[in-house]
Amino acid sequence: MMGGTPVHIRPMRPSDLDRVCAIEEEIFPMPWSRTSFEAELAADRCAFPWVVEKNGSVVGYMISWLIEDELHVGNIAVAPALQGAGIGRALFGHCLSAALERGVTRATLEVRVGNARAIALYEDHGFIPVALRKGYYSDTGEDALVMLKTIPSRDEAS
Ligand SMILES: CC(C)(COP(=O)(O)OP(=O)(O)OC[C@H]1O[C@@H](n2cnc3c(N)ncnc32)[C@H](O)[C@@H]1OP(=O)(O)O)[C@@H](O)C(=O)NCCC(=O)NCCS
Repeated sequence: MMGGTPVHIRPMRPSDLDRVCAIEEEIFPMPWSRTSFEAELAADRCAFPWVVEKNGSVVGYMISWLIEDELHVGNIAVAPALQGAGIGRALFGHCLSAALERGVTRATLEVRVGNARAIALYEDHGFIPVALRKGYYSDTGEDALVMLKTIPSRDEAS
């Protein structure tokens, strides 16, 4: 259950990058550079970047890509002080729904095998483990779990 003020989820814009990079650097051992985020915001990319705001401040973000009919999730993060309060669940669900509205038929992602919180979140949204990439993360050598969600097309579902 998410307490306090509701969150607001909207597409990421360049003016969000100070806050996004601060969260990224606080959380990840191998943070994306500001240049990487800027590239994702460039108009000709297939990136699908969103932020979540609480009390008018960016407190989380999710980068994914729409590649033909597939959504590939690259990164999701919530500011450490606000984790565990339902914000990541709200953001992930929103981005997934927005992708479904654009007609994706499957979604994929990689996650560290030890990241139980993220794996639980993805499983709750219908992702299932389909493969293991050995030693995928170069900082620790940790394996990546590849997860997949298939979405029946509207024709198949009816
Ligand atoms: C993964 C992450 C985005 C989830 O966001 P969050 O706001 O903390 O998560 P939520 O509060 O919405 O909880 C989502 C689910 O995570 C799990 N979870 C939450 N807090 C947890 C905890 N303390 N311990 C274990 N699982 C937990 C639960 O399954 C929860 O579902 P619930 O609502 O049924 O309890 C966030 O924790 C984060 O930024 N982590 C660091 C970065 C990261 O690992 N990103 C994912 C890989 S790219």
